[in-house]
Amino acid sequence: MQPTNATGVPDFLERMRETLPEGRVPAKIFNDPNVYALERERVFSRAWAFLAHESEIPHPGDYVLRWITDNSVIVIRDEHGQIHAHLNRCTHRGNQVCKAEMGNASHFRCSYHGWTFKNTGELMGVPYYREVYKESLNRSEWGLRAVRVETYAGLVFGTLDPDAETLQEYLGGFQFYLDFFLKPGPGGTEVYGPPERWIADADWKICAENFGGDGYHTPVTHQFGFHLGFYPSSGTTHFMGYAVHMPGRGHTIGIGHTPGLPPFSGFPQEVVDGMHATLSPEQIAVFKDARMAVGTVFPNLSFLTQPFSLTPKQTGVKFCTMRLWHPRGPGQIEMFSWCLVPKDAPQSVKDELYRVYNLAFGPAGTFEQDDFENWTNLSRQNGGSTAADFDLAYFQGLDWEPLQDFPGPGHAFTPYVTEIGFRNLWGTWLNYMLTPVGQQVDRSRVPPAFHPVDAKGQP
Ligand code: FES
Ligand SMILES: [Fe+2]
Repeated sequence: MQPTNATGVPDFLERMRETLPEGRVPAKIFNDPNVYALERERVFSRAWAFLAHESEIPHPGDYVLRWITDNSVIVIRDEHGQIHAHLNRCTHRGNQVCKAEMGNASHFRCSYHGWTFKNTGELMGVPYYREVYKESLNRSEWGLRAVRVETYAGLVFGTLDPDAETLQEYLGGFQFYLDFFLKPGPGGTEVYGPPERWIADADWKICAENFGGDGYHTPVTHQFGFHLGFYPSSGTTHFMGYAVHMPGRGHTIGIGHTPGLPPFSGFPQEVVDGMHATLSPEQIAVFKDARMAVGTVFPNLSFLTQPFSLTPKQTGVKFCTMRLWHPRGPGQIEMFSWCLVPKDAPQSVKDELYRVYNLAFGPAGTFEQDDFENWTNLSRQNGGSTAADFDLAYFQGLDWEPLQDFPGPGHAFTPYVTEIGFRNLWGTWLNYMLTPVGQQVDRSRVPPAFHPVDAKGQP
């Protein structure tokens, strides 16, 4: 265990307040028991956490089990179509009331003493209510604990903080960029199926950072793709495009360009038509030349769309993956990886997109293997005893100025390969980590505030 100060904050986090604006990040943040404990208390207890896609629970009574760190959450649609989230914890002794990962239920009956809850969370049935409680138990006070839920474009988020800002405020303009992944037509997206899930000894933060737009690793880590012709890019133009982040909020995206590609290349024609119907002229201006886009919603939800072909040297199609880096403990995640498909697309297109996604980013996907090889090794190294006084190099783009005429919100930079968004990501994270529970996270005080933002984190 590393030394901590009186408030339980590891010393290297206090030091990070000074080093981050200079482009240095303590290695220890990527795999440390004290850091994880503080993340549970100060990040995941008050951020908006991704829970589910609405299409996973299309019918009344449909539910899935999800997690906010170590809290199991039932995400369920009631008989009227409204989505609820409840802590999966019986109010009598705390037993898990729902054990299946997904299903359909009007009620949950606890397997210990039989308290029974409606899918809206109300306590309906208490065995021996008259004989044992003499009808004195106020059942309306003992429903399942509700998790506050809000949605955006089919995504269901929940927060454990009853005083949290709205989801719209929390996203803070990043919706502009999320729409590229989530609005490929008037019907939006749906999941191709349940998420693929696996456990890996990697710190969730390196995954969130990588999907915040680490274009730097692609030509090396995924070199096979360039060499064998699985996707259209080249080492000489790979770095081109935009890096955008929302100051003080942590959301960040990389948009890679390849010169000469036709607008919206790689998307099926139905999807191109759908995008023209749903995206604004400003969004079309930002995304029409994108070879790929990869972004993270703070703290741990990411999206990627990129072209990939089942057969090398063929043009390939652009699939979309949505992934949640669910922290299970220090240096370990459970991956939830979905393939998102345009709801309006023909089934044959959805099938093709899933096959391509699966080849690249399924559990045995080519890209997936490449990435986790690095992420598990670096998590192990950064968990070592000498890591506390070891800084990592985050110098890229230290003195860059944001583009003045960029059509989207946030701070945009070019080219796309840079570490500016990562400093904002870890500055936002640090701000949560250093702000005790009960105090408001001040978004204007993110350490690497090279460029002025207001109290809401807006430029
Ligand atoms: S723990 Fe659920 S009924 Fe007792
Ligand atoms: Fe990668």
